[in-house]
Amino acid sequence: MDSSFHAQILDNLSTAVLVLHPDLSLRFISPAAEAMLELSQARSVGLRLDELLPDQLEFIARQHREAPPDGPYTNRGVNISTSSGHTLVVDCTVSPLIGEGRNVLGLVIEIHPVDRIRRISREEGLLTSHETTQALIRGLAHEIKNPLGGLRGAAQLLARELPDPELEEYTSIIIEESDRLRALVDRMLGPHKQPRLLPLNVHEVLEHVRTLLQAETGEAVRFVRDYDPSLPDLLGDRAQLIQAVLNIVRNGVQATASNEGPRVITLHTRVQRQFTIGSQRHRLVCAIRISDNGPGIPEDLRESLFFPMVSGRPEGSGLGLAISQAIVARHRGLIECDSEPGLTDFNIYLPLEADNAKT
Ligand SMILES: Nc1ncnc2c1ncn2[C@@H]1O[C@H](COP(=O)(O)OP(=O)(O)OP(=O)(O)O)[C@@H](O)[C@H]1O
Ligand SMILES: [Mg+2]
Repeated sequence: MDSSFHAQILDNLSTAVLVLHPDLSLRFISPAAEAMLELSQARSVGLRLDELLPDQLEFIARQHREAPPDGPYTNRGVNISTSSGHTLVVDCTVSPLIGEGRNVLGLVIEIHPVDRIRRISREEGLLTSHETTQALIRGLAHEIKNPLGGLRGAAQLLARELPDPELEEYTSIIIEESDRLRALVDRMLGPHKQPRLLPLNVHEVLEHVRTLLQAETGEAVRFVRDYDPSLPDLLGDRAQLIQAVLNIVRNGVQATASNEGPRVITLHTRVQRQFTIGSQRHRLVCAIRISDNGPGIPEDLRESLFFPMVSGRPEGSGLGLAISQAIVARHRGLIECDSEPGLTDFNIYLPLEADNAKT
């Protein structure tokens, strides 16, 4: 095959492909990539990646600098902003071209768009359905709590009047059960305190949760940490964020209990630029990914996962994720989930701008 044939193949690929020189300057761009990234071949070839797409795809440069890859790797859910202001979410596969002596001759980058439109509408769908259920629950909870207070008080009065102390067993059941119900309703209502926002380091939150769960699980679960040390502090409520993360990591721990092989939970952080949450675009967000290698979210729960009282565990109350969602929403953030057997990712995105909380 001659090289014009190869060029023709590349020109007709519907996949967006970039080929870079080892100094990360552009050697080739496929027409599909030109269209997707709004770049033109004539003006782009020879430019370095950071000139071509400033502040985008930095992971390639970082990886190249720190540990040149010796095989292909894929970064999923990468955000790219085009010059006209479009935000794309793509999966990027980077394959090094290795020459003799194992030196890298260049990089081939394949860019696959993730269905962005579907993702945004799902986010909005999630947020609105969440608000509707929250409103419903709030109403219901007040209806339950009022008579519950009366019931408990009456049982206490009755206990004092009882002629036979043995009968107190029954009044104490009423009191204990109303307390239990009240605690459940309070959990359903979610954190009632306004978040107290202070600058905090997300890694400190993650480490707190990790230490806690590591102590509970001992050797049974391996926690892998992949933190981005350049992540700036964010304004958040420490206790609430710990709760939000703990619920998710604990689910992972519980899910992997049925694993035959090793149980691994990965905590991963990165800075993401130009990320849209709801309808608002943020310049900088903190992306936390919590992954486990358990069996995945049961198919029938996927759509309703974040709803209160949705549980796939016999002993579960189904409130964990609803609470995490409420807390993250109060920080103007977003939680998303991707799951397949053997890999479940929960992604938490929290804006890093100073004014990032709902008041
Ligand atoms: N990492 C995961 N892997 C597999 N399934 C999961 C995972 N996280 C959540 N699930 C499923 O989603 C359900 C809902 O989770 P959620 O944390 O909201 O409630 P729960 O764990 O059942 O109860 P609670 O957290 O209130 O004790 C779980 O019961 C489980 O079936
Ligand atoms: Mg849970």
